[in-house]
Amino acid sequence: MLVLGIESSCDETGVALYATGEGCLLAHALHTQVAMHRDYGGVVPELASRDHIRRVVPLLRRALADSGRSLAEVGAVAYTQGPGLAGALLVGASFAEALATALGVPTVPVHHLEGHLLSPLLSKTPPRFPFVALLVSGGHTQLMRVAGIGDYALLGETLDDAAGEAFDKTAKLLGLGYPGGPALAALAERGRPDVHRLPRPMLGSGDLDFSFSGLKTAVLVLARELAGGGALDAQQQADLARAFQDAIVEVLVRKSLRAVKECGLQQLVVAGGVGANRELRRQLDARAARARVSVFYPELEFCTDNGAMIALAGALRLQAGATAKPAGAFAVRPRWPLAELTV
Ligand code: KG4
Ligand code: ZN
Repeated sequence: MLVLGIESSCDETGVALYATGEGCLLAHALHTQVAMHRDYGGVVPELASRDHIRRVVPLLRRALADSGRSLAEVGAVAYTQGPGLAGALLVGASFAEALATALGVPTVPVHHLEGHLLSPLLSKTPPRFPFVALLVSGGHTQLMRVAGIGDYALLGETLDDAAGEAFDKTAKLLGLGYPGGPALAALAERGRPDVHRLPRPMLGSGDLDFSFSGLKTAVLVLARELAGGGALDAQQQADLARAFQDAIVEVLVRKSLRAVKECGLQQLVVAGGVGANRELRRQLDARAARARVSVFYPELEFCTDNGAMIALAGALRLQAGATAKPAGAFAVRPRWPLAELTV
C-alpha cells in the first residue's frame, strides 16, 4: 500500500510517497519558504499558510511523477496534525482530508515530532527500538525514551528556549540573516576555540532538562563589552559564535549521553533541524564512541521539516495497528505534547 505524507506545520511544504510493502520511500518533494520569510527576519504565519496553499498541489504532482505511481494507488493519507502554526497546519490537514475523501481512503494524523524522531529509520542503517532520541528543532528540545511506535516517555526538555530558537535569536543579535541557525553555525566554524567561555546552563542540574535563554543574554553582554560602542570585527563575531555553539553543543552532548546511560541503552537518535549542526555531530560521535553508544542521524535532507518523515510515521503507525481515521472531519493541534501519543 502507498501512504501519502503531507507536511505543512511551519515554513516547509513537503509531500512524499512511502510504500509499506517494500518498506521504502518512493519519492519526496519539498518547498522551503526561507527566501520568502527572509525579508521579515522570521516566519510570518499568514504568508506561510498562503504559500502552503500554492505549493501543495504542484509538489504532489512532482512526487507522483518521480515515483511513477498514480493517486489511485494511494491507500492512506498521512499529514501533520500538530504541533505547529495553526493556519499552516490547517492547509495541510484540509488538503489531506479533502484528497482522502475524494480517493475514498482513510487518513492518519501525525505528530510532527514523531516524524522527526522516526526519520533516522529512513536511512540505510536504521536504529532498532528501544533508543533514546534527542529532538532538537526550532520549537523543541527534548530527550525521549522511544520503546516503539507511539511509545514515547519524556526524560527531559528545555525550560525556556529551544536549541534552534537559541541559535536563531543569538544569530539575530549578532546581525546574521534568517534563518539564523545555519548562518551562526557557519560563522562558528571560523571562530577560534577557548577565546571566550560561556556558561554551560544546567549541566550540573542532576536532571535531563535544559535551559538556553541565558546563553543569548551572555552573548549580548559579551558582544557589547567587546564592541565598546563600536562594531565587532569579523573575527570577534566568529569567536563569539564559536563560544555560543561550543556551550550549547557541550550541554546537548553530555545530557544526551547521560540519558542513554540512565536508560541502560546503547543507541541515540538525533533528530530535528539542529541535528544538522556539524559540531554537534562531531562532538557526539567522538564522545559516544568512547561510551560505546551508537548515534543515528537522519539523512541531511530529512533533518529539517519534510514530507518523507510524515509519510513514514503514518505508514509505521498503520503497521503498528493504529486505526486509520475515516476521511472528513478533522482538527489540528498547534500545541500537542509528544508523550501523550499512543498507537
Ligand atoms: O526541525 P526544524 O526544521 O523545524 C522545526 O520543527 O522547528 O528546525 C529548524 C531549526 C531552526 O531553529 C534552525 O535555525 C535550526 O533548526 N538549524 C540549525 C542548523 N540547521 C538548522 N541550528 C544549528 N546549526 C545548524 N546547522
Ligand atoms: Zn520540525
